[in-house]
Amino acid sequence: MSYGKGTLDLNNMQKRPYSLSASIICANPLNLESEIAKLKNARIDYIHFDVMDGLFVPRLGLFPEMLASITGASKIPVDVHLMIQNPDNYVDLFAAAGAKIISVHPEACLHLHRTIQHIKSCGVLASVALNPATSLNSLEYVLDDLTMVLIMGINPGIVGHKLIPQTYNKISQLKNMVKSRPNFLIQVDGGVTFDSGPKMINAGANVLVCGSSTIFKDGINVNKSIVKFRRILDGEI
Ligand code: DX5
Ligand code: ZN
Repeated sequence: MSYGKGTLDLNNMQKRPYSLSASIICANPLNLESEIAKLKNARIDYIHFDVMDGLFVPRLGLFPEMLASITGASKIPVDVHLMIQNPDNYVDLFAAAGAKIISVHPEACLHLHRTIQHIKSCGVLASVALNPATSLNSLEYVLDDLTMVLIMGINPGIVGHKLIPQTYNKISQLKNMVKSRPNFLIQVDGGVTFDSGPKMINAGANVLVCGSSTIFKDGINVNKSIVKFRRILDGEI
């Protein structure tokens, strides 16, 4: 796989029509190095990196030094999800730490268009993250600048919540909005399970954030769970 700066070759991604992004906040922090080695071994497509400030969302999340350690230790592309107020202030920091894609929430940006241009000027691919109650209309004037849209299946900031069912319709509507761009990434974050994952792909998603209900499910080996999830999504089991 080649991951040149500012580009992503979807077709090279193991020839599957979807990708899996491992939500690293769900990994055991004491085993991070070995968990990343397992993800590499399983040829995971992305690592999803949750950043939270305790203001935009209730909890605290991961930090740029940790991102730099991950990108220093592996070539797995990292998509950084900024759940923080005024993400503009931190774009350079996460770009320098090796982010491949950065997602920002419209509600957290004073000037969304400017923030997107800022992300792109750092050689990072830009994405907008939409909360469950945030309309697809907020993408209207920025969609052409984006590589990805992140659809939240739950309200952000809490791990392990149940999927909000309207998410499927939202995915389909977005898929329709980007029908002329076959490589456009539609990522779903939160509520991804062995059961909901295939329905999300059917609705039009092509990147699933895998967390506490799939590949980091307690007591199950990460490698085996990735194989299991792919087999489910490929319709083999
Ligand atoms: C929630 C985070 C998600 C979360 C996904 O705000 O953005 O990345 O960790 O994990 P699950 O699916 O376990 O909730
Ligand atoms: Zn996230």
